Order: sequence, then structure tokens, then C-alpha cells
Amino acid sequence: MIEKEKFYITTPIYYPSRKFTLGNCYTTVICDALARFNKLLDKDVFFMTGTDEHGQKIAQAAKLAGKTEMEYLDEMIADAKNLWELLGIKYDKFIRTTDDYHVSAVQKIFKDLYDKGYIYKSSYKGKYCVPCESFWTESQLVDGKCPDCHREVVDQEEESYFFKLSGFGDKLIDLYKNNPEFLQPKSRVNEMVNNFIKPGLSDLCVSRTSVKWGVPVDFDDKHTVYVWIDALSNYITGLGYGSEDDTLYKKYWPADVHVIGKEIVRFHAIIWPAILMALDLPLPKRIFGHGWLLFGGDKLSKSKTVASTECVDPRILVPRYSADAVRYILLREIPFGNDGNYSTESFFATINSDLANNYGNLVSRTFSMLKKYCGSVIPNYTESNEEIDKDLIKTVHEAVSETRKNVENNLDPSKALGSIFEIFSKANKYIEVTEPYRLAKDENQKERLGTVLRNLLESIRVGTILLSAFLPDCSRKVLDALGLENVMYAEAKEFYKLTAGETVGELGILFPRIDADKEFEELAKLQEENN
Ligand code: MSP
Repeated sequence: MIEKEKFYITTPIYYPSRKFTLGNCYTTVICDALARFNKLLDKDVFFMTGTDEHGQKIAQAAKLAGKTEMEYLDEMIADAKNLWELLGIKYDKFIRTTDDYHVSAVQKIFKDLYDKGYIYKSSYKGKYCVPCESFWTESQLVDGKCPDCHREVVDQEEESYFFKLSGFGDKLIDLYKNNPEFLQPKSRVNEMVNNFIKPGLSDLCVSRTSVKWGVPVDFDDKHTVYVWIDALSNYITGLGYGSEDDTLYKKYWPADVHVIGKEIVRFHAIIWPAILMALDLPLPKRIFGHGWLLFGGDKLSKSKTVASTECVDPRILVPRYSADAVRYILLREIPFGNDGNYSTESFFATINSDLANNYGNLVSRTFSMLKKYCGSVIPNYTESNEEIDKDLIKTVHEAVSETRKNVENNLDPSKALGSIFEIFSKANKYIEVTEPYRLAKDENQKERLGTVLRNLLESIRVGTILLSAFLPDCSRKVLDALGLENVMYAEAKEFYKLTAGETVGELGILFPRIDADKEFEELAKLQEENN
């Protein structure tokens, strides 16, 4: 048996110091869609997500809630998992950095780095941002404040272990040079080289004595492993690296892609490869730093208190408008790699135009014509020389390969959806031009009517197979109605695949049109109650 190609994809592990926001959903939905598409391509996919549960912020949040750390975390993680379920996120592994296997693997990694001479003890003096758990150099501060969250920083000094990051500058530059795929989009490479590597990398503080909620350094228990060795290691410990059973690690590492937000690119593109090089382990193949979803011009981040009306809770949006609608807006509206704005207006407008009017309408028109004119039986087709038919089929074929390219080469769900929707737009136009309702009135056009409806059904079939990675719920309904169970990308490459003579199932309305004015008020009320 030929071994399947592997595909290992990860999200960052999120801080459960507050409930997850639509911003966190952004990365997770993207990874879910990319994972599902790679499954359609018949790859052996492993998709990991999880939570980053150590550090001062978590301890503070638990205290504020009047709970022990673990009580607090268990509740937050239950909520996170519910949210992922609500959004149809199908991960293979959910790692928590408080999991025993992770804790002991991190201790081993730390000790290994120490034994190899990459970690040494000294003392740290610096500007520290408590909410971000980041030390900054004077020159990195913006107006004397944390460049990430713009809050006050404090002077801090304490005994710490350090990782010799300063020795990795040239190796990192070589890495980016020799592997142009490694860090994407390309603009991020310049950012790393010019802002961090060229000015000179400092050694990295990797332990704290003041933070108690963390992984203890097992050979010096005054110290707790500090943030990045703990957090970044999740990508390998989650596969069993450092544990007795490391089968998954051997099978899936190195990762095909770590998808992360742009604010943590420097940790993933500088610190993580340096740690792996020091451990003599293979490096991830790609790191993709996506832009931010902006709400009224600001990133909806957990370390900020955002009182914006655009602070929409996905736990309200999904039950009301469907997981697919929320997934669509996250995947489609933001040009991947850049920042993009979220607003309720554009959410409603996009659901109406793309999902209700374009895809939904195409499917419902086609199914109702099929019922009316053919008793819902899939008609035969005759090979046609009509330009309009050839044009439709060509668009479908092109969209199939474009979608794949946009997923595999560009990691761009927005463009991939753009390619898929080319099919639906073209098919809607095809109805306008071929006028099946007119053909149905003419006895001599029965055969042509059959071909037209068949071409529409096949376009829907192909488009929906591709769409199933992005919008799994509505796709499942349509594929069920077409009698298709486990679909694969390979089947989308052929145009005529349905079986003539079979009866299609009934389909309700996939996406009801939203009355924006009314809905805006309803949603505002729901949000108000929620706050
Ligand atoms: N725990 C670290 C990551 C460690 S990975 C080894 C962390 N966690 S976080 O909870 O702050 O989540 C950060 C991630 O959430 C970002 O990288 C990004 O993927 C996502 N986002 C949070 N808000 C976002 C937006 N408004 N827009 C897009 N993504 C955002 O950093």
C-alpha cells in the first residue's frame, strides 16, 4: 500500500486568561479548513490546537475569579472546546500545557538544552510587560510602553536562566535564505531580519523565580520555565516528543505549517527554530503569519478591554446565523496575510450576497427546477457543442485546480473560496442564459433541458465538494441530497460523475436572507444581555 502524504498543521495555543474571542476563532477556523481540504486531497492529516495555561496572567485571572488555577482553567477549557464544537472545528489533538506529559517533556527539553550548554544561569534586568509576559529592550518600547499592548512596563531584575539565542542570528538568516517557503508572507522575513536579527539578538530569559504557576525547572526548583520554551514545545510534545510513546512525533514531525497571528511571528520564526536547532531536531516546513481581524480599527485582543460594539461573541453569532456563516466571514472577508475589518454590516451583507443569493439560490433554483421538470430524477446529458456549456465546464475545471493551488501553495482560504464561488456565479449566469423554464415549455427541448439541469447539478456537486472543507454543514446537506457520502478532491476533477436515473433528496433553504435593519437591533439586544 502506498503511504499517504502527511500533513501536520497547528494553531497557536491560546491563553485561556479570558474567553476566546472571534479573533481566536479566525486562526482556528483557517487551520480547520486547511486541514479538511488536505483530507479531501487524501493526505494523512493531523491538526493540533490547544491552550497555553501557565504564567502570571492565568494565576491572576484565577485569583480574580476566586478559584484555584486548575478549577479556573478546566472551566475555560470546557468553554473553549464547546466553542470549537459549535464552529465545527475537527482537531485531532487538543493540548493543554498543564497536561502531565507536556510538563515532563518540557522539563526534559530544558535539561537537554542546559546539558548541551545552550542554557546558563545569570540575572535579568529589563523592561517587562506583565499582561504580555514579555521583556522588551529600551529601543523596542513605543513611547516608553509595551509595543504590543501599549501598556506600562516595569523594571525587573531577577536570577534567571538564559537561552543562548544571540548565537543564532546567522543561522536564522541562512534558514530564511535557503528556504524561502519557511516564513510567509515574504514581508515577514524582512521584518524579522531588519527589526530583530540585524540589530543583534539578545540571549533569552527562559526561567523565572517570581512566577510560580508554571513548569518547575526540575534541577533547580526555585525556577519556573518561562513562557516560550514551555509554549513553543507544545508543537512536539503534543505528538509525544519526550514521552514514552512518541509514535505520532516520529510520524508527523516536522510540521507542514504553523499558522499564527503576526504578533507572535518573532517567537515562531526566531526562538522556535533556534530551540529546535539547539536540540538537533528538524524545523517546521512553514510558518504562516496572518494579519489581524480588526474591530472598528483595533485588534480584538484578550489583553485589552474592548468595549467596542463590534465585540461580537461567536457564541451568539453561531446559533443565530449558523457555523458556516461565521466560518465564511472569517475565511472570506480577510485577505489572508493582511489585516481585515470585521463589521456586523459587512457580515450581514456578505451572508446575503454570497451565501443566500449566490450559492443558496443556485442550489434551491436547481433543485426546484429538477423537481418540477424531472420529478427530482438526475437527467442524462448529451455532449454539447454550445459555447455556454463549454464555458461553464471550463470555469469549473479551472476553479478545481485554482482552489487546490490557493490552499496548498498560498495557504489562502479567502482566494480559495473566491475560486469556488466563481463556479456558483457562473452557474447562476448559466441559468439566466439557458433559461431552463423556457426549455421546459417546449416538447422538442426535453433533451436540452436534461443537459442544462445536469450541468447545473454537476457544477453544484463539484463546487460543494470543494466547499465542504470550508463550510462543512451546508455542504453536507447538499451532498446528502445528491446521495454522495465520502467525497474526495479527485472526484471534483471529473465533471460528469452523478448517476442518471437516481433521485435527489429534498433540500430546505440553506441560508435565509437576513433583514439587516431588523437583525442589527436583535443582535445588539442579544449582545447587551450577554455582557
Ligand atoms: N499563547 C500565545 C501563543 C503561543 S503559541 C506557541 C498567544 N496566545 S493568545 O491567546 O494571545 O492568542 C494569540 C493568537 O490568537 C494569535 O496568534 C492569533 O492567532 C489569534 N488572534 C487573537 N486575536 C486576533 C485577531 N483579532 N485577529 C486575528 N487573530 C487573532 O499569543
